[in-house]
Amino acid sequence: TVSQFTDNFARRFYYLRLSITDVCNFRCTYCLPDGYQPQGTQNKSFLTLDEIRRVTRAFAAAGTEKVRLTGGEPSMRRDFTDIIAAVRENDAIRQLAVTTNGYRLQRDVARWRAAGLTALNVSIDSLDARQFHAITGQDKFDLVMRGIDAAFDAGFSKVKVNTVLMRDVNHQSLETFLDWIRSRPIQLRFIELMETGDGGTLFRQHHISGAVIRDQLIQQGWVLQARARSDGPAQVFRHEDYQGEIGLIMPYEKEFCASCNRLRVSATGNLHLCLFGDGGVSLRDLLAHDGQQEALQARIAASLATKKQTHFLHQGNTGITQNLSFIGG
Ligand code: GTP
Ligand code: 5AD
Ligand code: SF4
Repeated sequence: TVSQFTDNFARRFYYLRLSITDVCNFRCTYCLPDGYQPQGTQNKSFLTLDEIRRVTRAFAAAGTEKVRLTGGEPSMRRDFTDIIAAVRENDAIRQLAVTTNGYRLQRDVARWRAAGLTALNVSIDSLDARQFHAITGQDKFDLVMRGIDAAFDAGFSKVKVNTVLMRDVNHQSLETFLDWIRSRPIQLRFIELMETGDGGTLFRQHHISGAVIRDQLIQQGWVLQARARSDGPAQVFRHEDYQGEIGLIMPYEKEFCASCNRLRVSATGNLHLCLFGDGGVSLRDLLAHDGQQEALQARIAASLATKKQTHFLHQGNTGITQNLSFIGG
């Protein structure tokens, strides 16, 4: 089915990124350097299981094929496994993914898979345990690595890994990452560091274009792959000597927004049309009971008519005001 959610630039939206909590137990330098502080959402509770059911049902009925659960750290929710099952009650949602810091993988990944999870993205910014600790504030490198093994054991045939590319932190580590994926079915994606409201200093120190990686890949014979309609924003490269793949997520590239196919709903039920400079439209009043599905779809469709062509970041509109943990990356 063709998605009914479309904007004025003929983009169709097949992919919902649903944040289910702001809470996180890591303190990544570029995201929550001081750890999770329950400020903005103190008086606003996160979407309940029933609200999640309703919002995903409305998206599924409008043609959404893929849902990603994000946060914060989505697995911090005690009802996380129930949430997975609830989203998969919609037959149209054939892909259900989670973006996780990996802390709970070893313990829970088999249960998540049994409940209907189909894909996993794990954040790993360094393959050096000490550097991992320095970036995330948690000495959990070995635990996360065992978590990835557990994911393969649980039956995931492929795992994606997110690596935020940072100058003088990991931008010279391509060979180490390549060795790691030589005989593992891992798609490792370098994400350009994005500027957050309180991350200006870090951004100026460590932002570097993904082009430095792209140039090396092309030089070494890596080949750019085509993209499917519900894929994320990564440019994916393959090489015949490697079982793994390399992805590049470059939001500061001019053409980045042309292929936008995703909408975001925050943990408190706000619809966001873009990661950058977008206040959000509340959907929550339409999630209270089952009889509001049409109104919910209508509000999403109306909101989409205001979606801008690009975030204009490459024209100097700098960044977002919130950390990605609040809007779900
Ligand atoms: P798949 O490739 O389909 O697995 O999904 P994905 O890459 O969209 O999911 P993931 O949560 O792993 O996203 C990785 C990162 O890409 C996000 O955390 C964001 O930092 C970035 N990203 C994803 N979508 C957008 C977007 O629309 N705009 C911007 N600026 N960045 C995005
Ligand atoms: N810039 C780029 N990526 C970020 N992430 C979080 N904050 C930023 C940022 N400022 C990434 C994390 C995780 C994903 C959900 O978002 O590394 O993989
Ligand atoms: Fe937590 Fe992810 Fe933010 Fe790191 S990037 S602090 S793991 S939400």
